[in-house]
Amino acid sequence: QHILVLHGPNLNMLGTREPGIYGRQTLADINARLAEVCAEADAGCAVFQSNHEGELVDRIQATRHDETEFIIINAGAYTHTSVAIRDALAAVGLPFIEVHLSNVYKREPFRHHSYLSDQAQGVIAGLGAYGYEAALRYALAH
Ligand code: DQA
Repeated sequence: QHILVLHGPNLNMLGTREPGIYGRQTLADINARLAEVCAEADAGCAVFQSNHEGELVDRIQATRHDETEFIIINAGAYTHTSVAIRDALAAVGLPFIEVHLSNVYKREPFRHHSYLSDQAQGVIAGLGAYGYEAALRYALAH
């Protein structure tokens, strides 16, 4: 099984970025945990982070030519703005889970709309880093 985990803008700053909202774990900590879960399941997991919308679109498009079967995506702020990321996900047609560390629904109203949610298999928000692990375990089981 091949799973692609995508992290969008500013998630490279986890650990120091608004820790009251996003927690103290770094992106490297989160990715290390995901790699452990993947290894236990004998699955192939790839991780990609970018602060650039077009690079995220390119990586999504690249799944047409690699072995990716499932995508887990935290698109960060692009969740609320990016028709391009939505269209890329639709173009490749792979099932995906949308993850947010914070509970976007208890935050500013502009975070309540997502361009991805109605296309997602599921959405996880507010569980912190565990949200990625929960999404990964679902993807591995399906
Ligand atoms: C986020 C929530 C977004 O609103 C925000 O722009 C982020 C992170 C989260 O993981 O909680 O960058 O996706």
